[in-house]
Amino acid sequence: MATPELPDDLPSAASQSSLKDVEVAHSQRLASPAVARNRDVILDVLRGVLAQRRQVLELASGSGEHAVHFARDLPHLAWQPSDASPRALESIADWRAEAALTNLKAPIPLDVLSEWPEVTCDALVAINLIHISPWRVTSELMLQAGRRLPKDGVLYLYGPYKRGGQHMAPSNEGFEVQLKSRNPLWGVRDLEAVIEEAERNSLTLDRVVEMPANNLSVVFRR
Ligand SMILES: C[S@@+](CC[C@H](N)C(=O)[O-])C[C@H]1O[C@@H](n2cnc3c(N)ncnc32)[C@H](O)[C@@H]1O
Repeated sequence: MATPELPDDLPSAASQSSLKDVEVAHSQRLASPAVARNRDVILDVLRGVLAQRRQVLELASGSGEHAVHFARDLPHLAWQPSDASPRALESIADWRAEAALTNLKAPIPLDVLSEWPEVTCDALVAINLIHISPWRVTSELMLQAGRRLPKDGVLYLYGPYKRGGQHMAPSNEGFEVQLKSRNPLWGVRDLEAVIEEAERNSLTLDRVVEMPANNLSVVFRR
């Protein structure tokens, strides 16, 4: 049975939890083993979902490896990475410097729970954020997505979910126990509750794509 993706969480403004990513020698770069496993399957989904979009604001970019990978393979997009964690911002900046991609912008500090910087975007991407943060991060994310995205703008979420109150695999149940032992406010979210929160903010469910290791891609449109 596939094991769930472990949270390679970085210290955030909200929680200074342990750093699981591997520091790359002689640089500020972090390397997440999970990113190496999931970046191509996520890219396959994003290729379709972001085909008509131009400006992406990525939240919780973490190490920055996703940002480099997606910006390189989707050159029609201007990719704006961000994170709440200063350590993550250093890592993203370092990966960006090495990649030297003209469509990958310098990372900006953005805590979903604080005032957002003025960034024009027609797509928001949040990978492995909503289960490794309190529920109010999901609520605020939906509120901001509803306000900031133009008509047909896209919100893309990736991570594990419950459906109909049930975990998608027994291994995800253990994963949630582990998450909650680190922070009781974290947890695998109910897909239905996430959809409800989105609909309250003028976002419509576009598609749900089953991903490897019991994760989902969940796409909303404004
Ligand atoms: C598990 S990591 C995911 C990183 C990356 N998206 C990935 O999948 O590898 C969670 C990230 O969420 C960020 N984060 C946590 N709370 C946040 C918040 N309130 N606003 C923005 N980022 C936050 C952390 O700093 C961390 O980089």
